[in-house]
Amino acid sequence: MTVETPGSADTETLALARRSGWPEELRVLIARYPREQWQAHANLGEMARFWLSRHAMFRELAAMIREIESQFRDGALPPAEFPRLFVPRLQFLLSQLNAHHQIEDYHYFPIFRAADCRLARGFDVLEGDHHAIHIDMARTAETANALLRALLGDAEGLRRCGDDYANASGALLKGLIRHLDDEEDLIVPLILDRGEGALGVAHHG
Ligand SMILES: [Fe+2]
Ligand SMILES: [Fe+2]
Repeated sequence: MTVETPGSADTETLALARRSGWPEELRVLIARYPREQWQAHANLGEMARFWLSRHAMFRELAAMIREIESQFRDGALPPAEFPRLFVPRLQFLLSQLNAHHQIEDYHYFPIFRAADCRLARGFDVLEGDHHAIHIDMARTAETANALLRALLGDAEGLRRCGDDYANASGALLKGLIRHLDDEEDLIVPLILDRGEGALGVAHHG
């Protein structure tokens, strides 16, 4: 019998842009703690509730930014009003995501990874997601700035910059939603199984 190291094929299958949820071997806990049970479970403590509320905020911001962009592209939102609605929300999303990923990478993931070795591979994937999301964040910021500059130019340039931004932000937001769902499916069942106090992630004060 041999033990095989997960190869690049496995890494690629689980890449953020490609996967649609976790494979069977990473569903050992979510199979026991399905989403419908989360809210009523006694072990869903303050840390998990706060963390889930951050994820809910990211989903809301993503939906708002999509809506503002589609209204602008449909002509329902005049170019003069677009930046006032668009810039603060995108700026807030990017800065909050950056902080959120740092806390996960440096504080929470090491604790969760050590708690259950069966899930360790999942945390490698989630960390990889953060890198992929940061590349998409940079592209989104770049194309958003080009789009804002193009508001002052001709229609052809504006259309092209709008397409570039739509491609970049489309990839970012799609990947982000996939990441949030999968991250919750890995982490919440672990918290419900062990409890925040035992894991060492309980909020104090
Ligand atoms: Fe994350
Ligand atoms: Fe997260």
